[in-house]
Amino acid sequence: MSIRIFVPSDTTARSLGADQIATLIQAEALSRGIDITLVRNGSRGLLWLEPLIEIETDNGRLGFGPVTSNDVQTLFEQNFYLGQTQHTLCVGLVEQIPYLKNQQRLTFSRAGITDPLSLDDYLEHDGYTGLDNALIMTGQQIVDEVKTSGLRGRGGAAFPTGIKWQTVLDTPDEQKYIVCNADEGDSGTFADRLVMECDPFMLIEGMTIAGLAVGATQGYIYLRSEYPIAHQILTKATETAYQHGYLGSNIRGSQKHFNLEVRLGAGAYICGEETSLLDSLEGKRGLVRAKPPLPAIVGLFGKPTVVNNVLSLAAIPYILNKGGQAYADYGVGRSRGTMPIQLTGNVKYGGLVELAFGISLNKLMNDFGGGTRSGRPLKAVQVGGPLGAYLPENQWDTIIDYEAFSSEQAVLGHGGVVMFDDSVDMGDQARFAMEFCKVESCGKCTPCRIGSTRGVEVIDRIRAGERTESNWQLLEDLCETMVDGSLCAMGSMTPIPVQSVMKFFPDELRHERQE
Ligand SMILES: Cc1cc2nc3c(=O)[nH]c(=O)nc-3n(C[C@H](O)[C@H](O)[C@H](O)COP(=O)(O)O)c2cc1C
Ligand code: SF4
Repeated sequence: MSIRIFVPSDTTARSLGADQIATLIQAEALSRGIDITLVRNGSRGLLWLEPLIEIETDNGRLGFGPVTSNDVQTLFEQNFYLGQTQHTLCVGLVEQIPYLKNQQRLTFSRAGITDPLSLDDYLEHDGYTGLDNALIMTGQQIVDEVKTSGLRGRGGAAFPTGIKWQTVLDTPDEQKYIVCNADEGDSGTFADRLVMECDPFMLIEGMTIAGLAVGATQGYIYLRSEYPIAHQILTKATETAYQHGYLGSNIRGSQKHFNLEVRLGAGAYICGEETSLLDSLEGKRGLVRAKPPLPAIVGLFGKPTVVNNVLSLAAIPYILNKGGQAYADYGVGRSRGTMPIQLTGNVKYGGLVELAFGISLNKLMNDFGGGTRSGRPLKAVQVGGPLGAYLPENQWDTIIDYEAFSSEQAVLGHGGVVMFDDSVDMGDQARFAMEFCKVESCGKCTPCRIGSTRGVEVIDRIRAGERTESNWQLLEDLCETMVDGSLCAMGSMTPIPVQSVMKFFPDELRHERQE
């Protein structure tokens, strides 16, 4: 019987040599006369173990990682393909690794298990059951199910998805659109990429259900150009879905229609903001639009449009399969369901951790992350991307919950957790936050365009010890003006990381470190 060996095909594993390892495994098996079936699966999200090679055994999948091409020979010599465990890279049964076992995977339940491009695999693992249910429901019933789930947008603003969909459903028009925001620009985030590279049919299914819910027949995935592998995988998966009647006209014989295209962005952070994304999708330069009108009413090409993040749409198949209440049964307060947290920066065990809302940041960073990679004390954590606060130690007990974070003047955003050890100069980080805005501002409004440029200059003067107190006051005033006067969250949130350094690490901003 052929032995199934799994080598991940996502960007992380491939950047660490997975393609070469796959080729070597095939060549080695051939030369030894061993019958194997090599499957290119997705990643489990345990990035510290990548490339994680798995062997199917009677007891489950046995893992070896992180494997390099130099290890292939010894893996064969020690009969890894027979399920023998003596090789030093053996990590035991993958499902038993505490990092994975202790998660609550609803969205990422198939990641790493299936071949992302196999529709059969998807169907065998509960795929398209949500769509089957949605096809016999009215739009209002689908929207009600999403409302019951309590799902809030995972792109950053945490707006209730069901309410957004209700607005589009209630806005009459011949043409409506579903737009998936796959720009994933936040520092330290990769969960959208993992969805698209490891389980693309889930996103396609989620978007199709969204179309049925609000009466939209056309969808676009706006994908960042820095994700070429996600682009290839999504393109192939979309073609397969068309070929098998899961996209296009008369979906599954239902007389309902939904078309989907993948469009590439051009590398601007601001094109992740939903209105500039729409401009970019229309072929224009990505400039932020004033709201109102909301995109739900006047969106793409002036039509009612649902704009949702990849993770929000990827949660939909589960909700329509198991019911909104099953999703809402996870979580705390108004943060329902699970949050895919991405542990990065100076962390020992970086990767994706999907858990119900409610776990503390400390537990995530220690129980899963294993502390800093450098072994030095942790100094600060930035959660929620480049516009998120730098949290000092006394805030690490904050739980993963939208309201708990906002009561600390922090944001959860897209769930990126970037850890910094004590070698980091927080004054540099404050300058970086302001400079990021200077570089990425769309330029439409003055507080952000001019404010961020002046902000960098003022920080430089403070760091150089030039009239420190008056420049400090100036920086405070400038931050206040940006918060109050900016048109979008790019300008109004940039002060958050800057002010967190001013509040919690003032000495590091006042005195430029002499190396
Ligand atoms: C500067 C800026 C950048 C953003 N970047 C992204 C992004 O990369 N991906 C994303 O999904 N949302 C991003 N957002 C949030 C979107 O504007 C919008 O809230 C989101 O796409 C709505 O989807 P959701 O309700 O599913 O979260 C960004 C917002 C701002 C202000
Ligand atoms: S705040 Fe910045 S990014 Fe947003 S509209 Fe104004 S200039 Fe553009």
